[in-house]
Amino acid sequence: MRERLVVALDVPSAGRAKDLAGRLAGRVGLFKVGLELFYAAGPAVVPEITAAGGTGVFLDLKLHDIPNTVAGAVRSLVPLAPAILNVHAAGGLAMMRAAREAAGDEAARLGVAPPRLIAVTVLTALDDEGFRQAGFTGTIVDTVLQLAYLAAKAGLDGVVASAGEAGVLRREMGPDFLIITPGIRPEGASPGDQRRLFTPAAAVKAGASHLVVGRPVTGAQDPVRAVQDILDEMAKAVGS
Ligand code: C5P
Repeated sequence: MRERLVVALDVPSAGRAKDLAGRLAGRVGLFKVGLELFYAAGPAVVPEITAAGGTGVFLDLKLHDIPNTVAGAVRSLVPLAPAILNVHAAGGLAMMRAAREAAGDEAARLGVAPPRLIAVTVLTALDDEGFRQAGFTGTIVDTVLQLAYLAAKAGLDGVVASAGEAGVLRREMGPDFLIITPGIRPEGASPGDQRRLFTPAAAVKAGASHLVVGRPVTGAQDPVRAVQDILDEMAKAVGS
């Protein structure tokens, strides 16, 4: 279960992020560096967290631009050696293919393993109303599935979606497709701005490959304990 837990280090300084990564080292599968930390601390924070946490970094920058620009961004990020990098599936097939190609080419040039590349489908902070307001039609689950097919066609390794879509994604996309689910809240935890929320047990049962948890860990009095509780909940889901 530990390999499947990703802790989002959404804190405003490298010092706080490294402290958390050090405390949680050996207890989680990946640390996620997102927009807040990356912009506050700069690119060097990625190898710093890799070293402090003793495991890989999921670099969650959600790239979304024209193909040439995203390819350039990916080339600039590969030397940081993230384990996983992501783009928005809504950027389209050509953009995702350009990202895939750039990651492979740059990694080969540097002689390193390419990052796994995944696509954000529909943000977990959007509920049905927010989805429609943003101009989408149809249902969230159909849109997530359509974007997942597009990501797979582009040669990407998986998607970010909510645990609510993980079951249908697992059935449709096969056993090796990465399904990374944020919007995870243990029983009784505050939702914050998230809308499509599921418990760790529900996400595991639905077939998520990785669970992303931020505030329930980073905001806890005892983050080590919070992680352990989540891992216990995940394990129980498999046992039941
Ligand atoms: O604090 P919380 O557990 O809500 O953090 C979830 C993390 O997952 C945040 O870093 C957020 O940026 C990220 N994320 C998300 N929904 C997506 C993609 C990423 O919540 N679709």
